[in-house]
Amino acid sequence: MKTIGMLRTALFVPATRPDRIDKALSAGADAVIIDLEDAVAHALKSEAREIARKKVLENVRGKLIVRVNAIGSGHNRKDLEFVPAASLTGIMLPKVESGDHIREIHERLLTCEKDRGIPPGSFSVIALIESARGVQNVFRIFSEAITPAREFMAAFGAADYSLDMGINITRDGAELNYPRSRIAVACRAAGKEPPVDTPFMIDLKDLDALRTDAGRAKALGFQGKLCIHPSQIAPCNEIFSPTPEEISYASRVVEAFEKSEAEGIGALQLDGKFIDYPVVERSRRIIRLSESVGRVK
Ligand code: GLV
Ligand code: MG
Repeated sequence: MKTIGMLRTALFVPATRPDRIDKALSAGADAVIIDLEDAVAHALKSEAREIARKKVLENVRGKLIVRVNAIGSGHNRKDLEFVPAASLTGIMLPKVESGDHIREIHERLLTCEKDRGIPPGSFSVIALIESARGVQNVFRIFSEAITPAREFMAAFGAADYSLDMGINITRDGAELNYPRSRIAVACRAAGKEPPVDTPFMIDLKDLDALRTDAGRAKALGFQGKLCIHPSQIAPCNEIFSPTPEEISYASRVVEAFEKSEAEGIGALQLDGKFIDYPVVERSRRIIRLSESVGRVK
């Protein structure tokens, strides 16, 4: 089973803008998502598929994901006929609300993989949770038993969620605490990687507000954020990478603990903080993450 790997940032580009797709691939995001769904006018769906297919076939550079249309949209099968090729990392499936959607997309992808001679389970799926029903069912969605194995990861979509709920998204984002927390906890409970957060849409120019919003999502357990403008990439990569202070403290924790463990002591204090096994394990994870983002202490 292939996996997407770390996703601090994934930048959306409409499939109808091939010029922007090329730029996006070198803009520093961990992945690029070519959109066939809501950023594409209904009349342009088939043109969009052609462009997405061409870009996927040309891709040699990075993690490329295509957001196909939802299962019941009438476009999904056609999208899947066009886009999957070996150079595609995975697809994003919008409007996921039940385990049936997971089983259905898995079956449809198995057919694509078989037709193209690609090993089953090669394409990962980012399932967008973006409705009250999706949020309510999130644990069941990600607990669906799938064979052969395929990676499923969650992302949160606040625009559709706010439409479904009839609520406004505010700068403070307090109304998103519940769905974010529920999604993050459910993913971990189902043994999945941490989810990716909704794009920040309410003020594209305010990068400080974006940083605050990303920090909130990180604090609730998200690993990264969907981006809708290249200017959002650097601040989000920064927020979702460990800080130099976190890395150096984590290294000190591991060092001090290993020394005391060798002396038969399982807990200690460092800078007035209590350190035991879970704290050390968390520090080790911070160090591993810092290595994968190319940061050292
Ligand atoms: C993304 O698709 C969203 O609805 O926020
Ligand atoms: Mg949406």
